[in-house]
Amino acid sequence: MAAIALGIPAVRRGGGVPSIEGRPDVPGLVDRFGRVAHDLRISITSACSLRCTYCMPAEGLPVIPRDELLSADEIGRLVGIAVRDLGVREVRFTGGEPLTRGDLVEIIRRSAEAAPGTPLALTTNGIGLDKRAEALRDAGLTRVNVSLDTLDREHFARLTRRDRLPAVLAGIAGAHRAGLGPLKVNAVLMQQTLHDAPELLAWAIEHGCRLRFIEQMPLDADEAWRRENMVDADELLGVLGARFALTPVGREDPAAPAEEWLVDGGPATVGIIASVTRPFCGACDRTRLTAEGSVRSCLFGDDETDLRGLLRGGAGDDEIADVWRAAMWAKKAGHGIDDVDFVRPLRTMGGIGG
Ligand code: 5AD
Ligand code: SF4
Repeated sequence: MAAIALGIPAVRRGGGVPSIEGRPDVPGLVDRFGRVAHDLRISITSACSLRCTYCMPAEGLPVIPRDELLSADEIGRLVGIAVRDLGVREVRFTGGEPLTRGDLVEIIRRSAEAAPGTPLALTTNGIGLDKRAEALRDAGLTRVNVSLDTLDREHFARLTRRDRLPAVLAGIAGAHRAGLGPLKVNAVLMQQTLHDAPELLAWAIEHGCRLRFIEQMPLDADEAWRRENMVDADELLGVLGARFALTPVGREDPAAPAEEWLVDGGPATVGIIASVTRPFCGACDRTRLTAEGSVRSCLFGDDETDLRGLLRGGAGDDEIADVWRAAMWAKKAGHGIDDVDFVRPLRTMGGIGG
């Protein structure tokens, strides 16, 4: 296994709270660059039913022992603190693959109880979603994003190292049946599947899904990412533009990562998240929790600030909120993927949560 997949970032534990020098005394998750985080992403596992080459090593990530993962109860408590005390307005559960956790419904239920009315979203590969969509909806789940890069079964099997395209499509259909639409579909841009993009867009429009393409970031466990091999937004626009008339309409809101285009005059749209070539770090409004309960202020910053130790050590909500605020105050300005001195984060996508 690549060393990077095993890399454990420096986690600040017990007392090692980041400095808050210069931080204004406000309740929200502000940082030194004037940003305020309202969007919480919680990774709940590093396990996954697929092995996408841009994310996981072939053998998967090391299993996180059960007692090191946050429990449903602990997740609910942190969601409550985030929404009540820290100004978080939306919570998204990611992984790894969240559906690999047997207690996902319970996690959603606890979170909905702790933060009534707050949108709760799931980013999933869709496998098994058909069987659990209704229970998740009843527990309080409001939105679903499914990752799907191609409708070509062979390409899918090669990219994800698993022949599971039918299961993903069943999951999407199940989510629709449960009323969890309109679904968003995320497709990572890769050379192998670039020419499948027009068909994927036609399919998404026909099936009432909002498709967004994402530029591949250097977060793959195999370290195969190369800037010069990456498919960028311009190349995709060229390929889609040969089949559809695309009209730029900008972003839904300034913090939305996707830029949108009307397809053939609308109302259907397609989004592109150009994380590498048009970074939106200046408008980033995210705060992240790892599956082990550490705050990560950025996908690309290796500093992690432990909250699980506080939770399990009997700390009160105020203390936990203060440590979370301090962690976010230390957030860096941007990912710097295009800088000559860019250093990849130690954790890969499957270990951080997208
Ligand atoms: N670059 C961009 N997006 C990625 N994802 C996983 N790995 C990468 C990467 N290296 C996406 C998945 C999913 C979300 C969790 O993150 O496709 O949509
Ligand atoms: Fe699993 Fe998602 Fe990573 Fe693919 S991108 S291996 S589905 S966690």
